Amino acid sequence: MMEATARAYTNIALIKYWGKRDEQLFLPMNSSLSITLDQFYTTTSVQFCTCLSADIFILNGQLASEQETVKISRFMSLLRDLSGKKLYAVIDSTNKVPTAAGFASSASGYAALAAAGTKALGMDSDDQTLSKIARQGSGSACRSIYGGYVEWQKGDKEDGTDSYAHQILEAQDWNLSILSVLLVPEPKEVLSREGMKRTVETSPFYAGWLDTVEVDLNTAKSALQQRDFEMLGNVLEGNALKMHATTLGANPPFMYWTSATLDVMQQVKELRATGIQAYFTIDAGPNVKVLCQPKDEQIVQEKLKDIPAVQDVYLCHPGPGITYLPQSK
Ligand code: PMV
Repeated sequence: MMEATARAYTNIALIKYWGKRDEQLFLPMNSSLSITLDQFYTTTSVQFCTCLSADIFILNGQLASEQETVKISRFMSLLRDLSGKKLYAVIDSTNKVPTAAGFASSASGYAALAAAGTKALGMDSDDQTLSKIARQGSGSACRSIYGGYVEWQKGDKEDGTDSYAHQILEAQDWNLSILSVLLVPEPKEVLSREGMKRTVETSPFYAGWLDTVEVDLNTAKSALQQRDFEMLGNVLEGNALKMHATTLGANPPFMYWTSATLDVMQQVKELRATGIQAYFTIDAGPNVKVLCQPKDEQIVQEKLKDIPAVQDVYLCHPGPGITYLPQSK
């Protein structure tokens, strides 16, 4: 049977991937750093069959839209090219994320699909190869192959062979708390793909991003090695703010924050003023992730839940990399 099932967890960037130097190969302008989370994941089964003349994509138990299927099928064609097997598949993917949260992550999705798809094709790929493959579905997916603390090195080559992720620390090496703050849903924002492109092409602030992101990355890596939470918190919060500042200079300008995003940022600052170390980061959307140490996680969670615009707060810790499940769901 040409089938396999894999699970991958979402990740949250501490130092952001923001901007591509190659749109087709998903090559980033800068290296990035993330934590793979233990709570939100995608489980994907892939079953190839000679009986199919096209891919079928089932997402959360329902046949996916044509648009979603086209995207997935493009990625499956990459696997077909790499394996030399011209076979189509049924792809059955389930996201374990809070429903209707805007949390859905392409990172866990493409990481799980790369792992299950290559295994079903008998390709026996190592993690580095999987990371390069997953990258071509969604850049941040290359980091979800690994658990714990992960760096995606941008690489210098034009063919992308040196652009992949690797683990810096295992999940159990440093247990931090990551609170995923779910805000009241708002209309859909600018997708990360479009947001990056517009920023790189038009924002005068993008040069400032590129000038400082490598220094931020090195500071964050030193903080990880020294387990220095204050140093890590300061650099990750500053890096997120710089990424978001570039969007304001784009043409047309855009911003991912809502007033609720600002309410959470304000609460984090107030917590710090009372001596509790908590730091925020924000990806390409309004939701906020707050990092703190396990000893403070309960009080931070309570304070965040008190904010009227907050729907829920999910407590996460560093989680595992790719896992294969013995049989299809
Ligand atoms: O991989 P994408 O296209 O989902 O882009 C991710 C971009 C950010 O989430 C904003 C930053 C990051 O490094 O994950």
